[in-house]
Order: sequence, then structure tokens, then C-alpha cells
Amino acid sequence: MRLTQLRLHDFRNYPQVTLMPPAGVTVFVGENGAGKTNLLEAIHLCCLGRSHRTPFDRDMIRLGCKTSAAYSRVQRHVTRDEVGVRLFAQQNLRKTIYVNGKTVPRIGELMGHMTCVMFSPEDMAIVKGAPQVRRSFLDMLLSQCQPAYFYAIQTYHAALKQRNALLKLLAKKRGNPKQLEVWDEQLVRAASPMVRMRREAVLTLSDLAKEHYTFISGREPEVFVLRYQSSLSGSGDPGEMLMDQLAASREDDMRRLTTGFGPHRDDLKLVLSGQEIRGYASQGQMRTAVLAMRLAEINILTQAHRDAPLLLLDDVLSELDEGRRARLLGSLGGMQTLLTATDLETLAGMKPDCVLKVIDGKVFIA
Ligand SMILES: Nc1ncnc2c1ncn2[C@@H]1O[C@H](COP(=O)(O)OP(=O)(O)OP(=O)(O)O)[C@@H](O)[C@H]1O
Ligand SMILES: [Mg+2]
Repeated sequence: MRLTQLRLHDFRNYPQVTLMPPAGVTVFVGENGAGKTNLLEAIHLCCLGRSHRTPFDRDMIRLGCKTSAAYSRVQRHVTRDEVGVRLFAQQNLRKTIYVNGKTVPRIGELMGHMTCVMFSPEDMAIVKGAPQVRRSFLDMLLSQCQPAYFYAIQTYHAALKQRNALLKLLAKKRGNPKQLEVWDEQLVRAASPMVRMRREAVLTLSDLAKEHYTFISGREPEVFVLRYQSSLSGSGDPGEMLMDQLAASREDDMRRLTTGFGPHRDDLKLVLSGQEIRGYASQGQMRTAVLAMRLAEINILTQAHRDAPLLLLDDVLSELDEGRRARLLGSLGGMQTLLTATDLETLAGMKPDCVLKVIDGKVFIA
């Protein structure tokens, strides 16, 4: 897949910018705070309809502006698409998604036109952070593979919000307890494909990440694997199982005012040589594990779309030792890659096709 043009309007510290990155490797170089990560974030927004680093769309609108937009032109095999997202500062206005010049009603319709894998410093949270971060990793991967997955999680979270709101109403002796069954049914219907897809994806992810880990670390004896953790993971029929769990825990849920079972409680266990990685591995080992997961993500997306995703590397190279850096770069060959660096020195040994200098929200050919 090729990104041929990126256009931003009032996005972060960019009033206006148009870039035409070549195939191969483009480096954005500039001082801290210049706006390098902002460019990668805009590309991520075009792929997934959201930032990789903030849940608040409004953060991406240039300070003092009412609206912000990012557009990308992409080429894949013989097809050419233009996708875009417009954000609004006003609370009650929803973001607008464009596909080939038309607005589309659902964010899901954006998915798959343009795919990316982002390596960023925030990735360490996949190892160290709350289960939410690992679910989000899976959700972003699967949403890029299949829009049906994205619709399922959207439906699920909408039903969950309604169910939890009803639990709170019931506690105040308002609302109709019968209505719980309606939300339970919606939860179950959406949860079933979510659990199946997550379960299958984690098996594939684990096999691939294990290989990548061994390759990047260059150390045979360390074995990295991933395990899907869900109260529904072992069931042949996760929907039926969730229905039983929801019924059995109804009293508890009413007391705690929240829903105790379901894929919103899932987690991903990261295991290195038999030990849970979080409390055991070194900083460098954790970083290698995360890189291995991202590389596995590339494989899965390439397989799903019969075409490699765009690679976005934010500040990752400077943190790796030389051997790891060389092996990582070696495994990325052939894909269009956009990366950031504060200093070209950190790219020793790499020959970029294009170097762009970023200074205070402006981009110059270096
Ligand atoms: N909504 C916004 N409106 C205007 N400027 C913003 C907005 N959000 C962030 N900025 C500015 O963008 C800059 C940060 O950009 P970015 O994160 O891309 O920097 P960077 O070049 O990646 O730096 P580093 O090398 O430290 O990672 C900061 O100067 C910040 O003030
Ligand atoms: Mg940055």
C-alpha cells in the first residue's frame, strides 16, 4: 500500500500542509516539539478514525480553531482511494468521515481503505499498562482486518453503556428490570463474534510474535508467547456462555452497578520463558516483546489485505541497541515507511529515500 498524498488543515500545530511521500523510507527529522509525531498521528487518524495517543479527538484540532481535517490519498494494487476525517471543536458535532469525496455515515466504512502499523513510545503501555490497552491493541488490529469486527465492538459497547445505565436506574427503584434482558441479548449477539475473532487472532499473533521475538533478540532460549484471557475463551459457544454468566451474576451486577462479565473484561497475557512479562522481564526485553507484537501485526494485516500496511515508526530506533535496530530494519524492507527522528545519527546504516525537516508545524525538503 502506498500513501501518495497527506493533506492537513488546522491539525495540531499545522495550519496547512501537503506532503507527497515517495515509496520506500521517509524520515521526518526535527527538534522535540516540532510536529513530527503529529504527522504520523494524522495518518493513523485516516486509517482508523482516531488518534493513537489520545481518546479525545478535540486534542487534534489546532488550538483556537473550530475544525480540523486530515486527508490521505492511497494506492493499493490498481485501486486509488482518498479518505479523510474532519473533526469539530463543538461538543455536539460528530466527526465526519470521507471516502472518495463522499461523506459516509459510519466510521467503520473508513476501515480497510488504508491500513497502518504504528510503532510508538506509548507502546510500552501494552506491556505495563491496564488490560484496556491490550484490548485496544487487539481491537485496532482486528478492526483494520475486518470492518465487521469494528461494528461488533461498537454495538457491544453501546449495549454495555445502556445496560450499566439501567443498573444505576434500577438501584434507584426506577426503570424496568425486564429491559435488562433486551440489553443482555444485544451484548451476547455482539460478544460472540468478538470473542471468536479475538481468540483466533491471539493464536496467530502468538505464533508470529514468538518468531519475531527470537529473531530480534537473537537469543534462542527466550520464548515469548501470548495468551487470550477471557471468561469466555474456553467455550465452543461464547454467546450462550455469556448469556448464562449474565443471568447468574445479575444480582451482583445490580449491587455493583456494573456488568461483571463479558469481553470488556478480556485481557491478553504476555509470557516470556514461562513468566508473566510485566513483573519479570527487563526494559529491553519488554520493548522487544512489543516490537515482536507489532511485527506480527504487520504479517496479519498483510495477509488480510494481500498487501503490506504503511509503517509508522515514531522514535523507536533511538531506543534499541545496534544489533536489534539492524535486525528490525532488516525485517521491514520493501514497505513504505515513515519514521521520525530528532537526529539523523540515530539512523546509522539506513538510507532513507526522502528526508523532510520539520520546524514548528512546517515541513521542508532537507
Ligand atoms: N491542538 C494543538 N494545537 C496547536 N499545537 C499543538 C496542538 N497539540 C499539540 N501541539 C503542538 O505540537 C507540538 C508537538 O508535536 P509532536 O508531538 O509532533 O512533536 P515531535 O516533533 O514529535 O516532538 P518529540 O521529538 O519530542 O517527540 C508541540 O509544540 C505542541 O505544542
Ligand atoms: Mg514525537
